[in-house]
Amino acid sequence: FSTYNFINVTQKGKVALIQFNRPKAMNALCDGLIKELNQVTQEIDGNPEYGSIVITGNEKAFAAGADIKEMQDKSFPQVQNIQMLASWENLTNIKKPIIAAVNGYALGGGFELAMMCDIIYAGENAKFGLPETTLGTIPGCGGTQRLIRAVGKSKAMEITLTGEFIDAQTALNYGLVSKVVPVSNLVDETLKVAEKIASFSKPVAALIKDTINEAENIGLREGVKYERKAFYSTFATQDRKEGMSAFVEKRKPSWTDN
Ligand code: CAA
Repeated sequence: FSTYNFINVTQKGKVALIQFNRPKAMNALCDGLIKELNQVTQEIDGNPEYGSIVITGNEKAFAAGADIKEMQDKSFPQVQNIQMLASWENLTNIKKPIIAAVNGYALGGGFELAMMCDIIYAGENAKFGLPETTLGTIPGCGGTQRLIRAVGKSKAMEITLTGEFIDAQTALNYGLVSKVVPVSNLVDETLKVAEKIASFSKPVAALIKDTINEAENIGLREGVKYERKAFYSTFATQDRKEGMSAFVEKRKPSWTDN
């Protein structure tokens, strides 16, 4: 990987571990960091050595939001002209599964970025919130749209209108995260799951990810049709043939990503 200023990227087996690296700014997501994140996730997506991605911060903060100091003096025409925050959505075009491992604060854009990931695991000290209202603004990276889909209207309204944080256990109860883990084990536990995901056929994992994410965009009837077409398309892969043959022949499948 190239050297980056705002993130660290390491290879852990078949998993790419991306760590935000602005500890003095609570990993606030400045323009430079988002550019680097987009660049590296695209690079990983095209690299056959990797089957999944883990994104994390440090033990104090996953990310405390968009960089308020960068936004502070901007005007409406400026943010409109540069289409501020639009490029954050690039993360949702990555085909490989992405797990967010959240220790500490995941606020504003940090929370929104975690919700763009496919799975969220939380450390026991995690705090999630959309405090934009306390800054006189609103979420701008899909927070209102993804939170309501994740937790329903009443809780989404409560979290966004009050700006108050919820803790890891509450996030688990709400179904926002699928597991709460002691802080010091979080990254290792997440890497284990990511490695398992990466051990299967990549084109199949990409179809699962795409099909589930599509459910957030379309209705049930279209979604079921979409899924069935994706299912049929697995019959064009070598890996589908291999998986079923291995089952029948009582042996372990050997995936070729074809
Ligand atoms: N942007 C820029 N700098 C930030 C930041 C942010 N989002 N969050 C923290 N920092 C900086 C602080 O300014 C501080 O810098 P200095 O040392 O230069 O003063 C440093 O990080 C440490 O922060 P604190 O001293 O505030 O640390 P704390 O432990 O007392 O509090 C915190 C931690 C609760 C996370 C607090 O920093 C905080 O509330 N941060 C802002 C959270 C927020 O409002 N996020 C939403 C941003 S808007 C957004 O994201 C819009 C969108 O939809 C994309």
